[in-house]
Amino acid sequence: MAPPAAAFDRKIVDGLDAVERASRDQIQALQRERLAWSLRHAYENVPFYRKTFDEAGLHPSDFRELSDLAKFPFTMKNDLRDNYPFGLFAVPREKLARVHGSSGTTGKPIVVGYTQADVDMWADVMARSIRAAGVRPGMMVHVAYGYGLFTGGLGAHYGAERLGCTVVPMSGGMTERQVQLIHDFRPDAIMVTPSYMLTILDGFAAAGLDPRESSLRFGIFGAEPWTNAMREEIERAFGLDATDIYGLSEVIGPGVAQECVETKDGLHIWEDHFLPEIIDPTTGAVLPDGEKGELVFTSLTKEAFPIIRYRTRDLTRLMPGTARPGMRRMEKVTGRSDDMINLRGVNVFPTQIEEILLATPFCSGHYQIELTRDGRLDEMTVHAEVREDRVVGLDREASAKELVRHIKNMIGVTTRLVLHPPGGVERTVVGKAKRIVDHRPKG
Ligand code: DLL
Repeated sequence: MAPPAAAFDRKIVDGLDAVERASRDQIQALQRERLAWSLRHAYENVPFYRKTFDEAGLHPSDFRELSDLAKFPFTMKNDLRDNYPFGLFAVPREKLARVHGSSGTTGKPIVVGYTQADVDMWADVMARSIRAAGVRPGMMVHVAYGYGLFTGGLGAHYGAERLGCTVVPMSGGMTERQVQLIHDFRPDAIMVTPSYMLTILDGFAAAGLDPRESSLRFGIFGAEPWTNAMREEIERAFGLDATDIYGLSEVIGPGVAQECVETKDGLHIWEDHFLPEIIDPTTGAVLPDGEKGELVFTSLTKEAFPIIRYRTRDLTRLMPGTARPGMRRMEKVTGRSDDMINLRGVNVFPTQIEEILLATPFCSGHYQIELTRDGRLDEMTVHAEVREDRVVGLDREASAKELVRHIKNMIGVTTRLVLHPPGGVERTVVGKAKRIVDHRPKG
C-alpha cells in the first residue's frame, strides 16, 4: 500500500532535504511514478473515486504522462461534506493515527484522516517549511496557531519538533500571556496567523514592551490571506523576517507550500508530495504556468486520505522555482473566490483594501469590511483603525475622505469609510480574521 519512495527521501544534503536540491526533471519523474500510485490507491480503496472515475470512463491505467491528470474529474468541498465523516478514507479506521477537521463557514464540518506514515510525511514537509523560513535546529519556536481539530497548531508543533527545535505549544488566545511568555522564554521564531500577530503587537504596547527588543527573529504566517504591505508592517514592528506558509486540511494542513526567507518571492510548493494545477474557475480548463486561476491539488503520497484534483477556490498563479529550482512557486494567495465581493459589478478582495490602508502612514493593519443593502444597492463600509502613534493631530474625517477617494481611484468602487481610534475594530482572538461582515438580507 505504501507510496513509492524517492531515492532522495530523508537524506539531508548541505542542510536541505536532498529532494529540495533535485532538478525539475527529477521532480517530474518522481511525480509521474507517485501519481500513478495515488490514482490507483484512490480508485481501489475509495468508492467515491471509483465511481467518479468510472463515470468519466477513466481508469488509473489511462494515466501515463503528467498531462493525463487533466482528464480526471475534480473533487469539491461538497464531496467531502457528502461523505462525512469517514467516507473518503482509503484505509480501515483502525489504521488512522489521527483525524483533523475544519468547520468551514457554512454547513457540516469536513473530516480528514492520517495514517502514521501520513503524520510523518506531514512533519517532514513542515520541518522543511520551518527551515526554509530561516529557523534552525536548536532554536525555540512559539506556536500560537490554534491546537485541536484545526491543523495549524499540531502541524506546526510536529514540524518544529522534527526539525529539532524547542516548541512552546501556546495555541491561540490569551494575548497577555502570549506576550509574557515571549518576553520571558525568548523564542527565536513565532508561528501564528498574521492578523493575530497584530493583536500580539497591541499586547506588547499594552504591556509597555518594545516589540523591536523582543527575541523574535523569524515569523511564519499563514492560514489566511495577507499582503506584502502587511509583511512590511510586521517586519518593521518586530524587527523579524516574515514568510508565508500555505496549506489546507484537505491536502494535509500547513506545509503544502512555504516561502523561502532568502528570496521572499512567493511560496515553493513541495511538489514531491503535492501536485498543483491552475484552472479556469469557470470552464475547469487547465491554464499554463504564469496565468492566474484557481489552485487545484492532487496528493502524491497520502495513504489515509488521498485527494485527487481538489478545487481549493484559492486564486493564484504558478511560477518557476528560484531558491528551490526543481519546485514551482505559487504567488501569494491574496483572495479566495469565496471572499470576492461583487460591488455593483466591480470585484473587490479584502486584501486590496488592506494594501491601500497600509500604504497610508496613519492606518494600522486592523480592518473589517461591512456589507449592507440600501434598497436595491449594495453598500460597502470599510472600518479602519488609526495607529496608536498617529492619533495626535490627525484629522480623522479628512483622512477618511482621502482614503475613500484613493479606494475609488485604485479599485473603482465607492465605499464609506470609518476611521476608528486604536482598538476600535473588532479583533479575532482565535482562528482566522473575519474580514467581511455581511449584513445584507439573505436570498
Ligand atoms: O488554514 C492550514 C494552515 C494552518 C495553513 C496554518 C497555514 C498555517 P484550513 O483551515 O483547511 O487549513 O484552511 C485552508 O486557508 O484554502 C486558504 O483559503 C487559506 N490559507 C491557508 N494558508 C494561506 C496563506 C489551514 N498562506 C484555507 N495565504 C486555504 C492565504 C491561506 N490563504
